[in-house]
Parts: sequence; C-alpha cells; structure tokens
Amino acid sequence: MTNTATLATLSGSDLAADPNWWRQASVYQIYPRSFSDSNGDGLGDIKGITAKVPYLKELGIDAVWLSPFYPSALADGGYDVDDYRDVDPKLGTLADFDEMSAALHAAGIKLIADIVPNHSSDRHEWFQEALAAPRGSAARERYIFRDGLGENGELPPSDWESVFGGPAWERITEPDGTPGQWYMHIFAKEQPDLNWANREIRDDFLKTLRFWSDRGVDGFRVDVAHALTKDLTEPLISKVELSAANTGTDGFPDGSHPFWDRDEVHEVYAEWREVFNEYNPPRTAVAEAWVHATRRARYASPEGLGQAFNFDLLQADFDAGEFREIIARNLAEATESGASSTWVFSNHDVVRHATRYGLPQGGGKHAQGQDGKGWLLAGAPVEELDVELGLRRARAATLLMLALPGSAYLYQGEELGLQEVAEIPDAERQDPTFFRNKGVEIGRDGCRVPLPWAPEGTSFGFGAGGAHLPQPAWFGRYAVAAQDGVEGSTLELYRKALKLRRELQTSEELQWQESGSADVLRFSRPGGWQTVTNFGDAPVDLPAGEVLASSGPLEDGQLPANTTVWLR
Ligand code: NOJ
Repeated sequence: MTNTATLATLSGSDLAADPNWWRQASVYQIYPRSFSDSNGDGLGDIKGITAKVPYLKELGIDAVWLSPFYPSALADGGYDVDDYRDVDPKLGTLADFDEMSAALHAAGIKLIADIVPNHSSDRHEWFQEALAAPRGSAARERYIFRDGLGENGELPPSDWESVFGGPAWERITEPDGTPGQWYMHIFAKEQPDLNWANREIRDDFLKTLRFWSDRGVDGFRVDVAHALTKDLTEPLISKVELSAANTGTDGFPDGSHPFWDRDEVHEVYAEWREVFNEYNPPRTAVAEAWVHATRRARYASPEGLGQAFNFDLLQADFDAGEFREIIARNLAEATESGASSTWVFSNHDVVRHATRYGLPQGGGKHAQGQDGKGWLLAGAPVEELDVELGLRRARAATLLMLALPGSAYLYQGEELGLQEVAEIPDAERQDPTFFRNKGVEIGRDGCRVPLPWAPEGTSFGFGAGGAHLPQPAWFGRYAVAAQDGVEGSTLELYRKALKLRRELQTSEELQWQESGSADVLRFSRPGGWQTVTNFGDAPVDLPAGEVLASSGPLEDGQLPANTTVWLR
C-alpha cells in the first residue's frame, strides 16, 4: 500500500499543497438547504455555512462536500440543476460562495463540490431551447429525444422505468401545439438526461470543472457517475432484460447495459482528469457509482476520477463477519486501483445509520441504494425502532470506520447521533420518490431535516424563521449546544476521534489481529495503535493498552456489547 505523509506532520500551507490530501481525509457532507439558515427564510444557505466554519474546524474534518447549491426548482433537492456555473439565489451569490470558500480554506478545510453531469433540470436554458426547437435540431441533440411507439407515437419509446418510479420517458408538446417526441429521464421528469455522445456537452462540462476549480474548489463528487454514456441503438431493450442486468444475475455482460456502467464512460473521465491535473495540487474527484464491486476500480483509477464511493458498509448489517469481509475486500480493491478506500454510513439518500442499527435485523436491508429498484425506506418498521441501541451501534461503527485507512465520508448531523425523522406529514414531503411512487415509498426527506443547533427556540437554532422540512419536538435533545462540551456526547466523541485520527494515521497499513471471538473485530495500524469492536451481546476482555477513545463507557476493564475502543 502507498505510504503518505502523516497529516499531523504537515503544516497548514504544506497540507494545502499536498497532492495526496484526499487519501485519508475525513470529508463532511453538507446538504446546504438543511445546514444553517442565515436569513430566516427557512432554507439553509451559503452564508449560513460560512458562519459555521468555526464549528467545522472544531469538529476536526479535513474537507467539506457540498451537495448541489446551484439554481434549481428543487424537484430533486437541487440535483435538478438550472445553471451549472452559478449559485441558487435562494442560497446566496457567487460572492458569498467565494467568501465561504476562503473561510473554509483559512480554517484548513478543503472544499468539494457536487457535480451533476447525467441530467440537467428541465428549466436549464438548453432544455428550454430543445422544447422550442424542431425535431432533429441541434438543440434536441443535447438531450435524448425519440419518437414514440404506437400508431401516433403515443407510447413511450421503451418500457424503461425511472429510478424514482414511473416511466423513464416523458412526452413533450411540439412548438406547434401537437403531441410530440419523448425525452429520457432516468430520474424525475424534471431531470432530462443529457446526451454525452454530443461533443458540446462534454466541452461545456470541462468548462464547468475549470470554472469551479478556478474559484478554489479542491475536488468534485460526481453524481451518478456510471450513467452518462448510453447505447440507445434501436430497438431499445425491454425492461425485463434490464431488470435482469440490474440484479446482477445473468443479464448483460459487464459494460454492455444500455445506460448503466458502460465502458465508454471512462473516456469522459480521462478528459476530466486532464483538467484536474492542470491544477496544483490536482483537483480530486469521487465517483458516486452504484456498480458491481469488480467494476469500481475503473472509476477510482488515477487516470479517471481517482476515487469511488463504496456503499458496502452502508448496506451491511451490524455484524462482525460482514464488516470484516467488506473491509478486507475494499482495501484490496483500493490497492488494485491505486486509490484509497472510501467509507460511508450515512448520506442524504439513505436512512441515518443511528436509526438503521436500531431497526430489527440491523441496517443493511433498510438502506438499499439506487440500483434500479428505487431508494429505501418503505417498510422500515419504525414502530420497532430501538433508539438507544441504534445510537450505541452507530457510535461503535463510526469509531471503527474512523480507524480505517482511506477517506471517511460523514453526513451532517451524524456527529450529533441524529435519528431519521419518520413523522413528516405527506403534505410536507419533498422527495420525488414519494410522489412518483404514490406514497408507497416515503423517500429521503427524513435524513434531510434541518439540523438542530439549539435545544429549543425557533427551528432549534437552524435560523430565525421556520425549517423547510418539519423538525420533530425530540430534535432539541440532539442539538449541538446540548452536546457541546458534554463528556461522552456523540459530538464530543466525533471531535475526539477526528482529532486523534489526524495525529495517529501515519500510513495506509492495516493489520488484522486475533480477537478470540467471531463477534469481535480487532486490527492494528502502524504506530502501536489498535481498534477493537464488540459486535456481540456480552462484554469481552480487552487487550492491554492505554484507552485513547471508546464509543461508550467500558465496564470493569471489559469492552461491552456494541462498543468500539481505540488502544495504544
Ligand atoms: C444521486 C444523488 O445522491 C441523489 O440525491 C439524486 O436524487 C440522484 N443522484 C439524481 O441526481
């Protein structure tokens, strides 16, 4: 495995220039509209983030990943982008963005922007032009338009379904008022898929990458990185074949699915890499690619995006055997690709891990991702939730993750031990998954509720006005101010672990150690530092050593169930 300089040994400016800064970074995801609201309009904003830079610095993270902050009608929480090179006026201005970026950098925190290349919004000027232009025009060629089937083109070009439910095609009205062509949208109908076979699209995205890189953005999180290039040779393949491929059974040979994970997509990222390397240090990228584990390395290659999310732990149960297998496999994969591993338990698309682990049979089946079957959530038996157990396991899992080599991706609010909000009235839901599935799947709003900063008061300190998604009464218990300085609080645990992680990581090596039990995982890292996690039901003996951190109180020198400890 590649050795990197210890973060702790690098001073501020060295760290800023270190081309390997991302390899073992702790990256904190901000969902801007739900983080902090500076003007009391109920929507988090850029100035709200700037005001919280001291909080982020004290937390001890290395980078912030900002979910989309671009102009958007919010048909999909901002992943429907109207303009790739601007800030949503509801969130601020480009000048506010520059101020935020400068404040983060001054605090030694890198900035990663979310980029959404698979689709624009239907309000993007390109799409509006396409609607006004005739069939076969250059404007339509920027998207994926097809004539419909049936006698009068009244049927969609194929029976494909959108990830959010319902058909993946929407019919337009032609400029002369007659029913017209159909356009493809893998996600909501407000998110028309761009045509990546069109050179103009490719060039424009290179321009966007430079636009943000010039403004000081250090890296990019690439939305549905595996969907861009498509083979839409007619006749289009039917849904039956597609679903076979999506479940990973015999279906399509690798790389031959009409729109997921095609080999040509890497030609796009090879061009992006050239742009990244124009900068010093090179800009980084992490792919959101829900692909088979064997295909992930392609996205993470140094000639491509450089790193890819693995969502394996996020989908696993709280189980020693599963964790060990996943960790070992991912470390091996990362070595093979030249990237570092990525770890993630929570993000804006899944039920928070403090809740998943409190549901019967652990987390995995409650966190399924975007694999053509939609997003999780329907059927999570919330009435059977054990909040205390969930939090205990989440803290143990996180402390284990922060001891692993590679990048740790954290989602806003997990440092508070925040639970998923299940009690959002239907009338206040925002996620297109909910609307496109007629409420059968409730969607992802429950992890996007604005953060509680204060134990009481207007929107629990989120802003001077309301909150765009309703906060439950119990939110105050988890507030930042309720945990700040409180020994043993989840916030203090994260702060301590993140600080220690910086000091302790000297390389990317990990050595498994005999734990004496199938329910206990134990590994060491260079520098005499080791981690033990008890996934079982009963306390176990601890190896000798100084306790550096523990996810819960130790009992008579033993490691209780559902607890992780770091020892030296
Ligand atoms: C993945 C994002 O994480 C998710 O929030 C979004 O809905 C889809 N991509 C579509 O952009």
